[in-house]
Amino acid sequence: MSEDDITLTLTLDGDQIEVAKGATLLDAAHLAGVDIPVICYHEATSPNGLCRICVVDVDGGRVLQPACVAECQADSKVETRNERVERSRRTILEMLNASVNLDEAPEIQAMMTDYDADDARFPDANLREHTVIDDNPFYVRDYEQCVLCWRCVQVCAEDAQFTFALTLKNRGHDTSVATAFDISMTESPCVFCGQCVGVCPTGALKPKLEWGLEQGWSAAELRQNTRRGRKRSPEDDDGE
Ligand code: SF4
Ligand code: FES
Repeated sequence: MSEDDITLTLTLDGDQIEVAKGATLLDAAHLAGVDIPVICYHEATSPNGLCRICVVDVDGGRVLQPACVAECQADSKVETRNERVERSRRTILEMLNASVNLDEAPEIQAMMTDYDADDARFPDANLREHTVIDDNPFYVRDYEQCVLCWRCVQVCAEDAQFTFALTLKNRGHDTSVATAFDISMTESPCVFCGQCVGVCPTGALKPKLEWGLEQGWSAAELRQNTRRGRKRSPEDDDGE
């Protein structure tokens, strides 16, 4: 019998299920058709257990387990949503809402509603402040909307592109995704594959065209500002 053939049984929300050894609690929930909210987890990236929104109760243990990284244990009893779990998820959402602009994060807003999160729970908290970075023709970065899920950094690195254009800078409340030494994206190793934009769960990373439309740019401005190295010419003002 190979490692892959080994299975174990556990109880998830009252139902006994069988999973492969090494399966995470999130895998088990998917298998059972149970929905667990995620923010930092994405099927295209390696789970890091950063946001903790996916926590579940295993055997009533002292600490809730992050379902995206915690492996299933044989004969355990898992509750994916009880009072403890709800309280924990609600607090995480309230803290996130107190420090990040979630206006363009509809999935997280839906979680706020689902978990009855109070958007005024921490009135003295400071929203993180960043200026929109518009330093290339392809996409803009608005880190006021960044939930630090790390997905963009991962797809830029070992999970997909192996380009390593992104990293983190500063610490604590001032932590932000950035290029190394804050160089512009055009000076960085970025190849503008767009995968970071594709996995971002908020409006922090946005195609330049979409952003320009929101800014009310004219057709000529859109054309000029989304073409690498293109110089503006009189023909660009033809109002197309
Ligand atoms: S920019 Fe988007 S993908 Fe990157 S860490 Fe922030 S929220 Fe996540
Ligand atoms: S989704 Fe599991 S810790 Fe973020």
